[in-house]
Amino acid sequence: MRIILLGAPGAGKGTQAQFLMSKYGIPQISTGDMLRAAIKAGTELGLAAKQVMDAGQLVSDDIIIGLVKERIAQPDCSKGFLLDGFPRTIPQADAMKDKGIVIDHVIEFDVPDEVIVERMSGRRVHPASGRVYHVRYNPAKEDGKDDVTGEELVIRPDDVEETVRKRLAIYHEQTEPLVGYYRAEADAGNTRYHHINGTKAVDVVTSELVALLD
Ligand code: AP5
Repeated sequence: MRIILLGAPGAGKGTQAQFLMSKYGIPQISTGDMLRAAIKAGTELGLAAKQVMDAGQLVSDDIIIGLVKERIAQPDCSKGFLLDGFPRTIPQADAMKDKGIVIDHVIEFDVPDEVIVERMSGRRVHPASGRVYHVRYNPAKEDGKDDVTGEELVIRPDDVEETVRKRLAIYHEQTEPLVGYYRAEADAGNTRYHHINGTKAVDVVTSELVALLD
């Protein structure tokens, strides 16, 4: 099962990825999490990516395509994977297609910008695992603590409203064209395309995803 989760920043991709990973036993490949891990490790890539990410811009296609190719070649991806945050540009999608990687499902999470801006202000994350919470809509069992490890949750530096609005503008300009791209791929019989109303409650979205994928 090879799945792409497509949608604006904050549309709920990472939240649903956590569930889909455990249900279908496939790894989540989050380019955002990979870049944040590189920043934490202080690698050359991390140093270069940090400024770009904090400003809400996209990291260059070459770097991202290299990262994903390497990750997909790992043995745990042999039965499938869940792409979260990739592809984000047409060249990224083309690179995957050129490599002959067939995608079974593309799932678009549709959420209006204003809902996203409001959501991001309450997002809390557990950096080590990528688990995502929301202070109101998806709260941790104990306030400010990860459910599994009990470690502190943090606010992402790019979740300030000004940066969120920049990320949304970039989404509409560079990533949203992938909606048409993958609809055309589905029309050609190369994948299946699903549109999900991402404004529904987390568990409702989860049930709809299961119905689609099962
Ligand atoms: P990345 O980490 O991928 O961020 P993003 O796509 O901007 O997406 P998010 O993780 O912010 O949102 P999400 O859709 O996963 O939402 P979530 O589930 O957390 O990328 C960060 C940066 O890295 C980019 O800006 C770029 O610089 C760089 N980068 C990454 N990939 C790249 C690429 N391919 N090319 C170039 N650059 C790249 O949910 C958000 C909040 O809402 C949470 O608090 C959650 O609890 C809550 N929530 C979720 N679902 C619901 C619901 N149904 N109802 C109410 N609340 C909900």
